[in-house]
Amino acid sequence: MEQRKIAFIGAGNMTRSIVAGLVASGYRPDCITATNPSEAKLVALQQAYDIQVTTNNTEAAQQADVIVMAVKPQLMEQVAKPLQSIDFQGKLVISIAAGISIERLQQMFANPLNLIRVMPNTPSLLGEGMSGLFASPITPVSDKTYAGELMQAVGKVCWVEQESGINDIIAAAGSAPAYFFLFMEAIQQQAIASGFDEDTARLLVQQTALGAAKMVNENPDTDLATLRQQVTSKGGTTAEAVRTLEENDIRGIVAKAMQSAVTRAEEMEKLF
Ligand SMILES: NC(=O)c1ccc[n+]([C@@H]2O[C@H](COP(=O)([O-])OP(=O)(O)OC[C@H]3O[C@@H](n4cnc5c(N)ncnc54)[C@H](OP(=O)(O)O)[C@@H]3O)[C@@H](O)[C@H]2O)c1
Repeated sequence: MEQRKIAFIGAGNMTRSIVAGLVASGYRPDCITATNPSEAKLVALQQAYDIQVTTNNTEAAQQADVIVMAVKPQLMEQVAKPLQSIDFQGKLVISIAAGISIERLQQMFANPLNLIRVMPNTPSLLGEGMSGLFASPITPVSDKTYAGELMQAVGKVCWVEQESGINDIIAAAGSAPAYFFLFMEAIQQQAIASGFDEDTARLLVQQTALGAAKMVNENPDTDLATLRQQVTSKGGTTAEAVRTLEENDIRGIVAKAMQSAVTRAEEMEKLF
């Protein structure tokens, strides 16, 4: 990918995982800078990936072609304000913060920015992330291409046409690892109730989840309903279990849960 000078403002978990993915995919470490108020995280990043580090956000942003805002949403305004003096002409700003709209980001920076919102999820930490991306209308195609490749360093990407689509990404991917964990927890609990010890119950569920995810991944042309039907013999045990889930409105429950996530994301947009 294009080796632009990139500065990560905030050197937390998400920055660490993106930097790890970038360096592993051949991005030049001398093109990457990370900033953070506390030095310990910077030293660790420098030692692990040989990137540039500094506690000076403005200096890092000034020297960069791409600025990734990777601080907590509640800190975004106070971190963006000192950066207002920078000339953003030709620079790309990427925000990975949840709940801060393009409009609010433009206000915080007091500049018309080439701006892309990215919503990653936690499996990005393992290089298996799913990120949603939305670009402000003035952002050039070359910046969109770059941002897409950036996030592909830690997983897969999906662009949305409307900014509200970012909240739908939160519901379908950002928050979704927790839905799967909950489902796995429920299976583990019932396996324990039927007599397995905790470790064995965990092994049963984790290996099954991994196997099921791999089957989905390795059969991209087979839709999910068909995959389910293929492992559900008529009159068999799986058919009975699936019928019970359907009768108890598993689909309705999931739809309500996802809608709740969207509603919460909309509420959060009003907070920052
Ligand atoms: N983790 C995820 O799965 C995930 C998913 C989607 C979106 N996001 C978003 O990604 C952003 C970062 O999340 P994260 O999980 O990486 O959080 P994190 O681990 O808490 O990282 C945030 C970093 O920002 C640093 N920071 C605080 N004040 C700063 C300042 N003035 N200048 C520069 N850096 C500053 C913090 O430093 P100290 O700790 O030393 O104070 C911390 O290292 C958040 O906005 C979050 O909403 C995260």
